[in-house]
Amino acid sequence: MEVVIVPDAAAGGELIASAIADLVVRKPDALLGVATGSTPLPIYTALTARVRGGLDVSRLRVCQLDEYVGLPKGHPESYRATVLREVVEPLGLPEEHFFGPDGSAADIQGACEDYDRALAAAGGVDLQILGIGTDGHIGFNEPCSSLASRTRIKTLTEQTRVDNARFFDNDIDQVPHHVITQGIGTILDARHLVLLATGANKADAVAATVEGPVASLVPASALQLHPHATVVVDEAAATGLK
Ligand code: F6R
Repeated sequence: MEVVIVPDAAAGGELIASAIADLVVRKPDALLGVATGSTPLPIYTALTARVRGGLDVSRLRVCQLDEYVGLPKGHPESYRATVLREVVEPLGLPEEHFFGPDGSAADIQGACEDYDRALAAAGGVDLQILGIGTDGHIGFNEPCSSLASRTRIKTLTEQTRVDNARFFDNDIDQVPHHVITQGIGTILDARHLVLLATGANKADAVAATVEGPVASLVPASALQLHPHATVVVDEAAATGLK
């Protein structure tokens, strides 16, 4: 695992946008796995600026890491709508270059299995962007998730629902209880994992991820098992590192 400490979130976004730009030049039809939440926004801003500056992403494909279960199709806080708004549209990608799990399916288990099959059929994820929860989750693999897990339904912890209430008018009652998330085993299938963590509230989770034992209690520690994992942290998120 390589750990890169950057001055701030914008610098982290630039660094990761550079890695994505290099990938796209090398492999124009690369499959980019995207996370949602606040942390990756500087990556998408920096990448969009590069596209405006002439980077050709017309063949890039994008896929989701996770999705809420039970939100009506098209709900603005569904992760499909969020990725369309924050990534697909700003980059000018055709919508058919984007896919994710169906959180409104009648058969959620079937939707999870379909998604793992779709990822494999697409040739696997080339670069997966990850954020990290204050409890060390990646995707929505909450503490005690199996490190071998595949895409499946998970129940959000109360802490994660509290953390995400800001996207739902600060009303925790609107935050879904369940999500579909790529499993940790599914995430580890990506060729390159890039985790961005910014802010002092992520410092404990970053320290446990990078320096703690590999443990299902800290799902992000599974990155230690991956042959090509990059952890980019700003100075505030790095304060727990030895
Ligand atoms: C969402 C996801 C989550 C977030 C994490 C941190 O797609 O994968 O693991 O990355 O909850 O969220 P923020 O960045 O909002 O602190």
